[in-house]
Amino acid sequence: MKIFAVLGDPISHSLSPAMQNAALKALGLDAQYLSFRVAKENLRDALMGARAMGFSGLNLTIPLKETALEIVIADDLARAIGAVNTVSFGGDAKNEIKGYNTDGFGALMALEMAGAKIRDSRALIVGAGGASRAIAYTLSRKGAQVSIANRSRSRAMELADRVEGKGFGLDDLDKLVPRADILINTTSVGMKEGDPSLIDESWLRPGQIVFDTIYNRRTELLEGASRAKAVAIDGVAMLVYQGAKALEIWTGLKAPADVMDSAVRDALREREKAKAS
Ligand code: ATR
Repeated sequence: MKIFAVLGDPISHSLSPAMQNAALKALGLDAQYLSFRVAKENLRDALMGARAMGFSGLNLTIPLKETALEIVIADDLARAIGAVNTVSFGGDAKNEIKGYNTDGFGALMALEMAGAKIRDSRALIVGAGGASRAIAYTLSRKGAQVSIANRSRSRAMELADRVEGKGFGLDDLDKLVPRADILINTTSVGMKEGDPSLIDESWLRPGQIVFDTIYNRRTELLEGASRAKAVAIDGVAMLVYQGAKALEIWTGLKAPADVMDSAVRDALREREKAKAS
């Protein structure tokens, strides 16, 4: 049996096991996807242990993605982004531990599947943390003109410099949002009910693409986007496609994205039901 796993701390809320086990089953593979709580200082031991035990692949989540860069042989994109979310083993005589970042690809696919054209588009990313970095690099490499707006303007400027984009503060959003072809929220604002939106609904326009990386609930931003007749994309699509890409790296097989999408949405509904009861 092939063993895959996600490592992180905390890890109990990860949707990856439900999503990936549904995919492995649909592909007819004799495999299991597990989750392990691993503290940052134990990541090296955990990776070596997983390799020694013949694991077939790993995902990494908070707070391990950055630390992994010092341990694994990361590809160009993961190094540029500064974070590894997918690990593979072996494939060569040295049995190297290789690192990738599929988060940006997940966002790219989420956008393209909804009909977005990336090349020469004006993409406005709100937030300048880990998710923003992965998306900014990926969209910039695909030929988008990237702008980044962040609460801390200096952090936006720093990232913008690295992707040949422009950096702004949040007080520029009223001018930036109407001009954007693609608007992406990567901040945590919207995760909790009642969070005040950073984006006024009146700045949105029909046909604009509005992508919120938050996936635990339908955010006020996406509700506003739907009312404004913009194209609203939720964070489940990004979660699914980053996982699909990881599965393809490990197995070489095309991942069943539709099965993975349903598994995530089912798991989220179950979670809501459990919370309400
Ligand atoms: P992630 O890795 O998920 O992107 P992160 O690195 O912690 O998370 O980044 C969180 C992002 O959300 C940052 O851009 C942060 O802004 P700052 O860089 O100014 O801290 C943004 N963020 C978090 N809470 C926010 C809030 N209440 N209002 C505006 N931006 C917020």
